[in-house]
Amino acid sequence: MTRHPRAPLPTLDYDQVADTYNTRFHMEHDRPQVAAAVCELAYEVAAYRVLEVGCGTARWLAGLSDMGMAAYGLDPSWGMLAQAQARPAFLSLTRGRGEQLPFSDATFDLVYCVNAIHHMRGQRDFVQEARRVLRRGAVAVLALDTRAHRDDWYIYDYFPGTYALDLARHPDHAEVLEWLRDAGLKRVQRHVVDRIAADKVGRAVLADPFLRKDAVSQLAMLSDAAYDAGIRRIQAAIAAAEFVGETLIFPTRLVMEMLVGYLE
Ligand SMILES: C[S@@+](CC[C@H](N)C(=O)[O-])C[C@H]1O[C@@H](n2cnc3c(N)ncnc32)[C@H](O)[C@@H]1O
Repeated sequence: MTRHPRAPLPTLDYDQVADTYNTRFHMEHDRPQVAAAVCELAYEVAAYRVLEVGCGTARWLAGLSDMGMAAYGLDPSWGMLAQAQARPAFLSLTRGRGEQLPFSDATFDLVYCVNAIHHMRGQRDFVQEARRVLRRGAVAVLALDTRAHRDDWYIYDYFPGTYALDLARHPDHAEVLEWLRDAGLKRVQRHVVDRIAADKVGRAVLADPFLRKDAVSQLAMLSDAAYDAGIRRIQAAIAAAEFVGETLIFPTRLVMEMLVGYLE
């Protein structure tokens, strides 16, 4: 399939949010299903040397290190890498981008990324690079299926432009499967690894960790004025509902899929 070149999209410099990034994993947002999916895949392919591209603070990679694997992480953000380095885990960390992996051919048994492919400007290049550095095992992309879930995240409703941005930067998952096949991977498949269901009721939404400006890239990329306007919209909607004796529900129902292809 031939695609028109993408217009340049705004990007988030994760150095801006690195210090507070890990707060997203507190309490109900711990996402054990994602950790389990990564560990299960690593076990399935009997991985020893694993690479997470866009590893951020190494939330998932540290678990593989704890399981005795040689855990390599790559990320363009020094700030995120510093947070990863601070973990009590043995990690080999490199600054770089997924589109051009600074590793030799046939180095890893598993190459994966979690919630990071939408930040890459050369997403197909990343898939090819991941395949190049694979010696056996699998390549896996874990990503939110934004297209299927337009109505399920209140952030999209109250902060104009956030859904359009997500549509523009998140690849269609069917297309990622094609890229995996084109890279020569086999048994290419997708499955749901996590369903985030964290609806907030009424004013409780104002304490939602996802609503902090530095919590998710959709909000971090807004100007302060646009962010404040969105918060005011939420407050006004709550007040209007309360005035007529109703309570608003703010949905957060997101689906994370794993798209995977195996070398054999
Ligand atoms: C939402 S965070 C995900 C971090 C980690 N995988 C996790 O799930 O917690 C996205 C990460 O992608 C990184 N990133 C941005 N552009 C990238 C690129 N071109 N190649 C690889 N990683 C990139 C960011 O620096 C950031 O650490």
